[in-house]
Amino acid sequence: MTLAAMPKIELHLHLEGAAPPAFIRGLAQEKGVDLSRIFDERGRYSYKGFREFLRVYEAAAGILRTPEDFARLTRVVLSESAAHGVIYTEMFLSPDFCGGRDVAAWREYLHAIREAAAAADREEGIAMRGIVTCIRHFGPEKARQAALCAAETAGDFVTGFGIAGDERMGALRDFAWSFDLAREAGLRLTAHAGEWEGPSSVRDAVALGVARIGHGVRAIEDPALVDRLAEDGITLEVCPGSNVALGIYGSFREHPVERLRAAGVPVTISTDDPPFFHTDMAREYDQLAEAFEWDDEIFLEIARTSARAAFCDDATREKLL
Ligand code: ADE
Ligand code: ZN
Repeated sequence: MTLAAMPKIELHLHLEGAAPPAFIRGLAQEKGVDLSRIFDERGRYSYKGFREFLRVYEAAAGILRTPEDFARLTRVVLSESAAHGVIYTEMFLSPDFCGGRDVAAWREYLHAIREAAAAADREEGIAMRGIVTCIRHFGPEKARQAALCAAETAGDFVTGFGIAGDERMGALRDFAWSFDLAREAGLRLTAHAGEWEGPSSVRDAVALGVARIGHGVRAIEDPALVDRLAEDGITLEVCPGSNVALGIYGSFREHPVERLRAAGVPVTISTDDPPFFHTDMAREYDQLAEAFEWDDEIFLEIARTSARAAFCDDATREKLL
């Protein structure tokens, strides 16, 4: 089987971050907003470094205004994923961008996103679940409101809660209230950590009680922590192309994903924000195969690890295994 055709499971994809630049430009035009500053001469997102990436990301997200905008985006993103062989995807959804963290507004946005996801499942065979995400650099108070949105809508579609944003800002323990609320509502937990900060940041995420860590790759700097992740079965949502594009590692070959996998850490593969990093799931698989000589057996192991770690019901999981 070619890598492009291989069924893939993606556990780490930001809805706004997956918006094709042409889609955002089209929306900006419809709304009469000049967003040309965030694109380069080839029409791609233009940024230098992570802070600017976040600013461009937030400017693009700011043009997504109505539930209908998010429904259209969801459909476009899921079609794109399906075209690269993805059969199941978990998408980070941010109440910060969908209705300003107001629970009633959030319900409307979520309803629109869910309808679009149902259509994609029917027509293109791609299943989706939502992980409600707070944003670290927006601070703990806004995170509480996002967590309330998550808790109010926890169920068979919204199945997880997480935190994204600038890992270098604020202490993770300041978000414990939000994570506790989400856990009590039955949501599974994940946190971005070990992307911009080292092992102590990953340890902070583990202390929060997460089942998975977004990125987590800098755990490699501490062998005892690598052992702990392996022993406790804490799954890493690894996004190699994102890490290389943002300059955390110089190339796929230098990326620690293979060393983490070989050490027994449950490792999964995702794209994070594909158009920002000029990637897609098929491209990630191709680059991993080239850099580490990963064969079909290893990609099947990745798929099984992903299915086991997916925030879905067991009947859905069985179908993925
Ligand atoms: N939000 C979108 N992409 C992100 C990343 N790579 N790290 C932290 N927050 C993000
Ligand atoms: Zn991410």
